[in-house]
Amino acid sequence: MGIIFQGKDKIFHLQAGDTSYCIQIEREGYLAHLYWGKRIQQFNGSNPILYVKRGFSPCPNPMDVTFSLDTLPQEYPAYGNTDFRTPAFQIQVENGSTITDLRYKSHHIYDGKPKLHGLPATYVEEDSEAETLEIYLEDSLIGLSVTLIYSVFKHLNVITRSVRFKNNGSERLILLRVLSANVDFRDDQFDLLTLYGAHNNERNIVRRQIVPGNQSIESRRGASSHQQNPFFAMLRPNANEEEGEVYGFSLVYSGNFLAQVEVDQFHTARASMGLNPFDFTWILEPTESFQAPEVVMVYSDAGLGGMSRTYHELFRTRLCRGLYRDLVRPILINNWEATYMKFTAEKLVDMAKTAKEMGIELFVLDDGWFGKRDNDKSSLGDWVVDKRKLPNGLGDLAKKINQIGLEFGLWFEPEMISVDSNLYRTHPDWCLHVPNRGRSEGRNQLVLDLSREEVCEYIIHAISTILESAPITYVKWDMNRHMTEVGSQGLPSGRQRETAHRYMLGLYKVLEEITSRFPYILFESCSGGGGRFDPGMLYYMPQTWTSDNTDAISRLKIQYGTSIVYPAITMGAHVSAVPNHQVHRVTSLAIRGEVAMGGDFGYELDVTKLSEKQRNEIKQQVTLYKNIRHIVQFGLFFRLLDPFIGNEASWMFVTEDQSEAIVSYFKVLAEPNAPLKRLKLKGLNPKFPYKCLETGRVFGGDELMYAGIGLPMLKGDFTCVFLWFKRVDSLEG
Ligand code: DGJ
Repeated sequence: MGIIFQGKDKIFHLQAGDTSYCIQIEREGYLAHLYWGKRIQQFNGSNPILYVKRGFSPCPNPMDVTFSLDTLPQEYPAYGNTDFRTPAFQIQVENGSTITDLRYKSHHIYDGKPKLHGLPATYVEEDSEAETLEIYLEDSLIGLSVTLIYSVFKHLNVITRSVRFKNNGSERLILLRVLSANVDFRDDQFDLLTLYGAHNNERNIVRRQIVPGNQSIESRRGASSHQQNPFFAMLRPNANEEEGEVYGFSLVYSGNFLAQVEVDQFHTARASMGLNPFDFTWILEPTESFQAPEVVMVYSDAGLGGMSRTYHELFRTRLCRGLYRDLVRPILINNWEATYMKFTAEKLVDMAKTAKEMGIELFVLDDGWFGKRDNDKSSLGDWVVDKRKLPNGLGDLAKKINQIGLEFGLWFEPEMISVDSNLYRTHPDWCLHVPNRGRSEGRNQLVLDLSREEVCEYIIHAISTILESAPITYVKWDMNRHMTEVGSQGLPSGRQRETAHRYMLGLYKVLEEITSRFPYILFESCSGGGGRFDPGMLYYMPQTWTSDNTDAISRLKIQYGTSIVYPAITMGAHVSAVPNHQVHRVTSLAIRGEVAMGGDFGYELDVTKLSEKQRNEIKQQVTLYKNIRHIVQFGLFFRLLDPFIGNEASWMFVTEDQSEAIVSYFKVLAEPNAPLKRLKLKGLNPKFPYKCLETGRVFGGDELMYAGIGLPMLKGDFTCVFLWFKRVDSLEG
């Protein structure tokens, strides 16, 4: 178990959970990829690389005409010396050449998993949880040393990869391309699954067959983005939700990324992922190092569901950090859709009082409490309370809310600046911009230049001052536009293309500082909803506002798509008013509640305007969620019916000991003469008897999973069924 170096064959055999990953030091010191898949006891070379002479595949050694990098499955391919496929990295040296030639130098295997300097990454709590292999490669001509870092989690099918570059030479190197992981699969029999979307419509699932040539997704927006999530999976064509081989790749980074799969002339597939090389360069002076972000690679032979559950467990327990990682999350009420920016202290207190009567635990004051922010045209950057709206200040409001019996939370958008702000009037050069060019606004705002130390210091100081001024136990950290005119006045001309990555490093520094200064605060990240729902942000903030779209029917797809990688405990999900503010659909409180209970539950509507009947219904929802949240937030997640392919959706959660489960079934549109529905459950123990708390009936886990449970005939559009099962002593009940 762990990492073995088979010296005779020069094979590194990495074992993670039920997975093996094998690398060989090949002829001339090149690193070849041998195998990644189901665990093998000992790799004895049953899967050797065959050397054959191929036309138009040149050879680095003219004496060895069967050996070409063009045909070698490689671990970290370079550019310029016989491999014509996409390189994992590219470097320019002072004479203008962009050719490199990396050879094996040495390696080191050790217990534990290293931190990545300045970057978020998965971690271990005990060194015994993981083992790490560092392979040192060198291009001796230019003094470049490259460290490939692999960590294997012993009890999970997870291998993480990252790369560190060091300039050991005497001349300046320019990094043009630095991907973090490259896997040369030995064939091309795969489908590619990615998560695409838009604002209000995040993480739709698309699956396509890979074809010869390049297929890629990327972000050039300065954020991981609503448009493409930094994730992809390669699935064997027969793989489905429960069966078949799936290979997942997830980048722990929140900025520009590239993920691509290239099928070459020999029908092999090269999968690679990392920082987007588009508009990126990085100057590496002698003695300097550059650390690339981490890619989390998951293997599953139990289909997509198996892959998702591995990501869920890893991200919930070894990516998210802090006090709230292991705590149930509070049920919150957020005033955004209730009041937008038009509120008074009295109104907020009234909302909190009603929320308390319904059992809600946390009140969140959203945008509009600072500067002179009556609309989105001003005040970002001026983190000073607006005394017109809150005459007695934030401390007083927070205390009142606390006295009512709720915790108090606050919204910020720290990375932004409004042109109409004191901050901009004082520091017009603090935003990302290019001299003499226009400054394009998005949502009437500009992006602060977090590649600059003084800007980061300002944010840390301004946000900390507010957080120290009142009993605040929750923060929503928003970010509402993407980057344009990407340039920094803090960097010389040769380093302008470092700006976007330096921004991310600045942001991570700020987040590290603020989250460690205020360890008792629950942080939720947000970017116009789920525009930065990525592992990088989850490292600092253990939950994310999943989407600005709170419509229950839209949320079926959004939450289902998000669940491909991210666990329910990371997904903020709220009940909002109808007609829904984003899509104007009218749905019942019941379905809005049940959909939102698939994540970190909350409300986002004016509770003071509800009828008594509605308040009672909410009271019941809140009580129910308090009773089941340990199952949703810490249980195993199973997708049952896919909303992307039908009129229905269904998912379920099962506690780790399989003693409790909850099932949600949703039907979008009513059907005339609909077939009778049986729903087959998953993840239960076939030997356990379970009582359905809604009907009082007892069934064996085997019956529920193999024969399924009959669902009632549903009438009308947008309907749902909720079932809660508890293990009982016998099938007699
Ligand atoms: C976008 C967020 O996603 C919303 O929930 C809300 O906080 C607004 N910003 C406030 O401006």
